Amino acid sequence: MRIYDLIYKKRNKEELTDEEINYMIENYVSGDIPDYQMAAMLMAIFFNGMNDREISTMTNAMAHSGDMVDLSSIDGVKVDKHSTGGVGDKTTLIIAPVVAYYGVKVAKMSGRGLGHTGGTVDKMEAIPGLKTNFSQQEFFDIVNKTGISVIGQSGNLAPADKKLYALRDVTATIESIPLIAASIMSKKLAAGSDCILLDVKTGSGAFMKTLDDSISLAEKMVAIGENCGRKTVALITDMDIPLGNNIGNSLEIKEVIDTLNGKGPKDLTEISIKLAGNMLYLANKGTTQECENMAKEAIQNGYALKKLIEMVEAQGGYIEYIKNPEKFEKAKYSLELLVEDNIEGYIESMDTEELGIASTILGAGREKKDDIIDFSAGIILNKKVGDKIKKGDILCTLYTNNEKKLKDAKEKVISSIKFSNKEPEKIPLIFARVEKNSVQKF
Ligand code: URA
Repeated sequence: MRIYDLIYKKRNKEELTDEEINYMIENYVSGDIPDYQMAAMLMAIFFNGMNDREISTMTNAMAHSGDMVDLSSIDGVKVDKHSTGGVGDKTTLIIAPVVAYYGVKVAKMSGRGLGHTGGTVDKMEAIPGLKTNFSQQEFFDIVNKTGISVIGQSGNLAPADKKLYALRDVTATIESIPLIAASIMSKKLAAGSDCILLDVKTGSGAFMKTLDDSISLAEKMVAIGENCGRKTVALITDMDIPLGNNIGNSLEIKEVIDTLNGKGPKDLTEISIKLAGNMLYLANKGTTQECENMAKEAIQNGYALKKLIEMVEAQGGYIEYIKNPEKFEKAKYSLELLVEDNIEGYIESMDTEELGIASTILGAGREKKDDIIDFSAGIILNKKVGDKIKKGDILCTLYTNNEKKLKDAKEKVISSIKFSNKEPEKIPLIFARVEKNSVQKF
């Protein structure tokens, strides 16, 4: 078999056989297929797609390219969750403690920030002392003790995805339904949980910009999960507006704490309750409505916050920061952006990807692979889409430890926000729910 012939086939819109896909993944991981040929294949897949059989074979080949984690030494139902990536998305740290409170085990491996999107592991590391790298046994012990642990991806989890992702990142082949589905589901299958909740983001801050594409991606991922014996549900949620008000690592941890104290922003609280409810549903804790009520109760009664504190402590973090979030170090420089024009009206839209980039410029994300994150950098949004504004109002505040970055970030933020004198239509927070063979639109 020759990779040249497989590229030729895909370029001509032909299907690849299972044997060909397995050959391609194995030989790419071993280094026998060079990046330039794999890059050509990725672009052919980007343009000509893959059918369901091809996607599922590729996902399995990628999952089996490294360790398949065996979680059987952890008692009870294990539920995993994955977001396709967004700006201000800190839901994992809210919902994992909620479901753990009800005895559902969360043994989760999370990613770091990617492009304009933030990553849970970076956010967690904003908590002083907290570790996200543990041996497998230590990871299992924490889950058995507290019901929950969130760590970074181990070196040998789906190495095919690691290599392919890095190549896609530099060859403009990220936004492809078969490639995203295989990337996400290979990691989820290898990570070993019984059930998987997928949060598929849609809108200007997401990799999938349209609802149709997001539903199609969700259907493919749900089918892959179910075909591999994992109960899988996907929610399609909004990423046309950042989630919550805070963007940036320690700013987002503070918002997680506010939300678990019952004082979080409405959108973040509502989405978190839906997501946690669906995780509880996957673990057979009741109907979706009953499970959402359970999620609400765990937040209202402070039980979920206690679980977060248990997890932070078990992972070596200083819990005084969770109990007293004002202890988090503040950035040295801040800049309030005001409505300068003589206008009265509404915020019509926000280019959420641009806001994510602005936050990266301030230091909250990496522009190069080895950049060190400034945990206190980021943006607090005082106004969001649909809010009334008038001259002099504070739109948002930028935070950084590098004063020189304020100017560029300010320009990005200003150009990302559009005003209107008409109140814009309300965007739903959740557009659809995808379960095996069913799509429910809201
Ligand atoms: N997240 C992933 O893990 N992979 C993708 O391809 C896109 C988002």
